[in-house]
Amino acid sequence: MKKSIALIIIIIVIIIVGGFFIMRSNKTKQVSTANITESNILQNESTDNKTEEKIDNNKTEGKSVAVIYFSATGNTKQVADLIKEEINADIYEIIPKEKYTSEDLNYGDDTTRATREQKDKNARPEIENSIDVSNYDVIFLGYPIWWGDVPKIILSFMDNTNLDGKTVVPFCTSGSSGISTSENTLKSYNDNINWVKGNRFSGSASKENIKTWIDSLELNFPGQNNVGEISMNEFIIEVNGRDLIVKTENNSSTEALIEKLKDGNVVINANEYGNFEKVGSLGFSLPTNNKQMTTKAGDVVLYQGNSISLFYGPNSWSYTKLGEIENVDEDKLKSILGDGNVKLTLKLK
Ligand SMILES: Cc1cc2nc3c(=O)[nH]c(=O)nc-3n(C[C@H](O)[C@H](O)[C@H](O)COP(=O)(O)O)c2cc1C
Repeated sequence: MKKSIALIIIIIVIIIVGGFFIMRSNKTKQVSTANITESNILQNESTDNKTEEKIDNNKTEGKSVAVIYFSATGNTKQVADLIKEEINADIYEIIPKEKYTSEDLNYGDDTTRATREQKDKNARPEIENSIDVSNYDVIFLGYPIWWGDVPKIILSFMDNTNLDGKTVVPFCTSGSSGISTSENTLKSYNDNINWVKGNRFSGSASKENIKTWIDSLELNFPGQNNVGEISMNEFIIEVNGRDLIVKTENNSSTEALIEKLKDGNVVINANEYGNFEKVGSLGFSLPTNNKQMTTKAGDVVLYQGNSISLFYGPNSWSYTKLGEIENVDEDKLKSILGDGNVKLTLKLK
């Protein structure tokens, strides 16, 4: 009897002690589950932070500048990255469908791929990715010099991409060759682009080299800190290689035009009309401040809110005067503008 009482007591003790340990271990589990949940939350928070950081860094999103480049061995990529950093632009790589191997790039051998492509005027190597440039006004286009010129894949890119009316700044890297032959190729490949004088870099260009060059361009980049002051009372019409300075009227139309030009140049294909003006569509509308007027040589006006007319002779109509070209008379302006249609590039200094 005593024995069985002792056994019962031992069993009870075992149950109590066992229950205590089970409860403890459950409690520990709960704590550690809570810890896991907490660490998940922390992880999520840090993911959120990363997203925020990405958005913060991408200051040019929705704005107007992109760096687009092709690089076979990394030199042009390095320069492209520095430009991106300097102006805080978006960046895209032109990726060949068939990657260039080191054998393809061996230009000591006439039979290798890159050399054959460069010698074939119709070669247009395929591109793997498509790059949407529709939101950009200014594009930095980078490439290595191959046989003194642009690699043919850059022409493939231009075939695939509508760059008309955009401002494009070429840049290249090379062993020693300059950029001008490739610039001429690009210009003659698409003349509807506002080409800005480009620059050649060595593969080891520094951040300082890039900054100095970009500052010298005097373009207005949304992400760049040191944008120069833009004079609000003048803009330039580039025509047939000449810069005509337009002193602006003080009205809401010129204010809106100057704002637009801060985002990039505007290219107008202007038609000869009436023996007194060149007129063409802006491609967007501006506020009007129309008044009946008789034009004189050098007057620049807004016509129907969305076209620019540059007058070299008199006409009476209701226009919004935008400004006057400085230091020109009828004969001088006629000789600059020529007889037929002309391309007018509106830009800021
Ligand atoms: C096929 C080929 C042709 C080249 N032709 C020239 C040339 O004519 N002049 C020159 O200075 N460098 C030439 N180079 C050297 C490249 O321009 C230079 O290494 C460039 O920085 C490479 O840029 P990446 O690394 O972005 O591809 C050539 C390179 C290759 C692969």
